[in-house]
Amino acid sequence: MTHLLEIEDLHVNYGHIQALKGISLHVDEREVVAILGANGAGKTTLMRTLSGLITPRSGKITFAGHDTTRMGADRIVRLGIGQSPEGRRVFGTLSVAENLRMGGFTRPPAEITESCDHVYTIFPRLYERRAQLAGTLSGGEQQMLAIGRALVTKPKLLLLDEPSLGLAPIIVRNIFQVLRDVRDTGVTVLIVEQNARMALKLADRGYVLEVGRLSHEGPARELLASPEIQAAYLGH
Ligand SMILES: Nc1ncnc2c1ncn2[C@@H]1O[C@H](COP(=O)(O)OP(=O)(O)O)[C@@H](O)[C@H]1O
Ligand SMILES: [Mg+2]
Repeated sequence: MTHLLEIEDLHVNYGHIQALKGISLHVDEREVVAILGANGAGKTTLMRTLSGLITPRSGKITFAGHDTTRMGADRIVRLGIGQSPEGRRVFGTLSVAENLRMGGFTRPPAEITESCDHVYTIFPRLYERRAQLAGTLSGGEQQMLAIGRALVTKPKLLLLDEPSLGLAPIIVRNIFQVLRDVRDTGVTVLIVEQNARMALKLADRGYVLEVGRLSHEGPARELLASPEIQAAYLGH
């Protein structure tokens, strides 16, 4: 079986800093895959490279049968990769509705309206706040907006970079419940998280990234049960 996403021996540098030192992994259709790792491990670099925002030094990325290794970001969105970036990055001076419509820039206007309505059913809170400036939303609401904006592109693969960062536990649980619902609609998910426990409970499989290299991989329940992973990432 061919994978939805396949990454082969990916190397990414910032000048002479080697952020990714030969990463190989795959994600199958309808899977949820978690990437765990400490601060500075290279998680965001991986996500930004998959989205076409960073060009790798070497290696190969194949998505849905296309070589996307050096493809531009907007073509990658059109192929079906949507990203909710670290730190949310909503447009603070635009309304919730305007932020969502901007997410749909690759699609015809009529379809954008339909997609926004779909996002409002997933996040009723965003519908209530649709006219409000995004900069005035709470952190949790901004995270919902960032995820919603990625969903407006109707992605086959949703990339989530630290959706729980800086949010209260109750909000985190709420967001993870929504991610379960999104997964149940058939969207494949690649999630990067420092909250390893929440991510592994959602995921089918996981990989652990340690300063630019993968150190562990396996079914999520095996990683959850591993004493080594527990000691390093699960606060045991
Ligand atoms: N724009 C950048 N310029 C130079 N170095 C960077 C840049 N972004 C990240 N790095 C470095 O690359 C490494 C990986 O960072 P990052 O991908 O942000 O890790 P993570 O998301 O796992 O915290 C770190 O050493 C970081 O300092
Ligand atoms: Mg990061």
